[in-house]
Amino acid sequence: MDYNFPVTRTTTPKEKPTDCKTLGFGKYFTDHMFIMEYDEGQGWHDGRIVPYGPISLDPGSTSLHYGQLMFEGLKAYRNPKGTLNLFRPDMNAKRLNRTNERMCIPPMDEELFLAAVKAIVKVDEDWTPTDPGTSLYIRPFIVSPEVSFSVLPAKKYLFIIILCAVGAYYEGNESKLHGSRILVEENYIRAAVGGTGAAKTAGNYASGMIASYKAHDHGCEEVLWLDSKEHKYVEEVGTSNAFFKINGKIVTPELTGSILPGVTRDSVIKLLRKWGYEVEERRIELAEVFEAAENGTLEEAWATGTACVISPIGVLVYKDKDYPINNEVVGDVSQKLYDNLYGMQIGKLPDEMGDWIVEI
Ligand code: COI
Repeated sequence: MDYNFPVTRTTTPKEKPTDCKTLGFGKYFTDHMFIMEYDEGQGWHDGRIVPYGPISLDPGSTSLHYGQLMFEGLKAYRNPKGTLNLFRPDMNAKRLNRTNERMCIPPMDEELFLAAVKAIVKVDEDWTPTDPGTSLYIRPFIVSPEVSFSVLPAKKYLFIIILCAVGAYYEGNESKLHGSRILVEENYIRAAVGGTGAAKTAGNYASGMIASYKAHDHGCEEVLWLDSKEHKYVEEVGTSNAFFKINGKIVTPELTGSILPGVTRDSVIKLLRKWGYEVEERRIELAEVFEAAENGTLEEAWATGTACVISPIGVLVYKDKDYPINNEVVGDVSQKLYDNLYGMQIGKLPDEMGDWIVEI
């Protein structure tokens, strides 16, 4: 279908950032945004591009009180041809609908989602930074403007896409990856099976903030989340998926319903298998990780996510004890994954899988 979204251009364009080292993650929003309404009986309608700016929500809007919200995250990169690359945006479209189903938000046609992403990125493409490790972060989200105190799914929604020129999610990773310190979280949990852990919804992130603060107090960048029932099995790292290389084999927690099915997680599994590595998706006991750290078979560990791409783990901290990984040196597999994924994303390397890069 040919979507032709009307564009209202801003009359007051903002100054674009010039120093790519201070981009941060969420400071430099572009000049325009995509917005579309949903009304029961009418479906998603009136998609359009308008100047970036505040949206008006009645203080009684249900989303503000009960958190019926969802978001996605993907990135656009400038390639050597001068056009832009998106990375597996179809995966975001599919996950959006899985999240919507869990959050009782109406589904959206995948083609419509992709057309909206491409249209807004095209309008603000000049905001795409090109320095190593930088990108144009794309943040689609859904919020309801419906006014009600009933704890019921709304009948009206807004779908909005905003864009932001960003640097590395973990400061310093733009030019050179570093191994981060990660605190094993023993009390708080991120999500439980049957809850919303597999959905990309605001509440998962809100409830995790307290543990991140605790980690920062311990001199750590993030937390290693454990399962909600036994506090025994590894789940995620901060807002990312977790991988370990133990004795030559790569393991990552299986998707049990409490873990977010990351696009980068899926890409890493597929790439590693293509390269001949054995990858197991299974439950991983924390005790197994520590045993491997102590007997020297824990060769590498890293986090994967759209925001961070690959973020190596240098040290796990548990009960005031440090468990260094690979002498805190970034491992070969972590580096190779980063170089290949990021290389494909920016178009420096060919698309190894054939259909992962969508050029616009
Ligand atoms: C991502 O990795 O894309 C995320 O959604 C994390 C987000 C909190 C920036």
